[in-house]
Amino acid sequence: MKKAIIYYFTGTGNTRYAAEEIQKALNEKGFETTLFDIRKPLIDAPDPNHFDISGFGYPIHAFNPPQLFLKIIKSLPRLHTPKNAFLFRTAGEPFFLNNASSWSVLRALKQKGFSVLMDQLLLMPYNILFRYDDRLAKQMLLHTQKMAKLIADDVDKSKMTKRIIYPWIWLVMMIFRGIQWYGAKINGPLFHVKKDKCIQCKTCQKLCPSENITFKDGYPKFSIDCSMCMACVMYCPKDAIRPGLITPIRVNGSYSFSKLLQDEEIASDFINSETKGYFKGFLDYYEKTEEIIQSLEEESA
Ligand SMILES: Cc1cc2nc3c(=O)[nH]c(=O)nc-3n(C[C@H](O)[C@H](O)[C@H](O)COP(=O)(O)O)c2cc1C
Ligand code: SF4
Ligand code: SF4
Repeated sequence: MKKAIIYYFTGTGNTRYAAEEIQKALNEKGFETTLFDIRKPLIDAPDPNHFDISGFGYPIHAFNPPQLFLKIIKSLPRLHTPKNAFLFRTAGEPFFLNNASSWSVLRALKQKGFSVLMDQLLLMPYNILFRYDDRLAKQMLLHTQKMAKLIADDVDKSKMTKRIIYPWIWLVMMIFRGIQWYGAKINGPLFHVKKDKCIQCKTCQKLCPSENITFKDGYPKFSIDCSMCMACVMYCPKDAIRPGLITPIRVNGSYSFSKLLQDEEIASDFINSETKGYFKGFLDYYEKTEEIIQSLEEESA
C-alpha cells in the first residue's frame, strides 16, 4: 500500500477540513494517509522519508504562509531519494496575490529534495475581515470536497500542475510577510480579554497553536508568539477576546461545518452566473475549477 502524509497548519479549522477531505480522497485511491497537525510544542514531525508522497497545507495570512508552518518544513530531514510533494492553501478569496504565497514554501521543499506536483488554492470561509453568508460557506465546503478528489487523482497519477510565480510578486510577498510576521509580535501582546464577558473556560488556550496564551488570576494573558490565526477569537463562546489593532475586523463565532452540510434549507449556489461586484472574481475561480472537476467525473464514470 502507498503511504502518504499531510502536514498542515490550521487556526480556525478550514485547512484541517481540506486536509481531512484530501486524506479521505487519497485513501479511496488506495493510499494510507497520515495527518500531522503543526502546532507548538514543536515535537518532531514524522520523517517524510517514510512516506511515498507528502502533502503540505496552510492558510494564507496576508498573502504568505504562517511562520510556524514554514518553520516545520525547514526542520524536516532531507530526503534520501527525491520524492513528490503536493501543496494546498486555503484562503478567503481568489485575489491574485494569494497565488504567490507559496514562494518560500516551494523553495524550502525543493531544498529538502521534494519535487512539487501542485500548489492548489482552495477557497474557504473568511476568518477575518467579515463573516461569509452561510450559503457561500456551504458552497466553499462542497467545492473543497470536489477539489480534494481532484487533488487525490492528480497525486495518484503524479500529474504536474505547478504554477509559475513572477519575481516582482515575490517582492510584494516579502513586504507583506514582514508586516504580518513582525506585526504579529507587536499586535500579539495587544490582545486582551473583556473580564466581564469571560467565563474562564480555557477554550482559547486549548485551541491556540502557538502556546501564546497563559492564565493569570483566572483570565487569559497573551504573549508575543501569536500566529494571528484567530482561533481564540473565533471560538471564544462569549466573544470576550479583543485582538488588538484588528479588533474591528474580527470574526466571532465559528462556522458549523456539519450543520452547514446537513441543513438542506441552506442553499449552496451563492456564487452563480448572475453574481456581480466583489464576488465576481469568485465566479471565475469556480467556473475554471468546475470544468476540470467535470472532466474528471466524466472520466471516472
Ligand atoms: C491574519 C490573517 C490574514 C489573512 N490573510 C488573507 C489573505 O491575504 N488572503 C486571503 O484570501 N485570505 C486571508 N485570510 C483568510 C484565511 O486565509 C482563510 O480564512 C483560511 O481558510 C483560514 O484557514 P484556517 O481555518 O485553517 O486557519 C487571512 C486570515 C488571517 C487570520
Ligand atoms: S475562550 Fe473566551 S470565555 Fe473562555 S477563557 Fe478564553 S476568553 Fe474566556
Ligand atoms: S493567541 Fe489567538 S490568534 Fe494568536 S496564535 Fe493563539 S489562538 Fe491564534
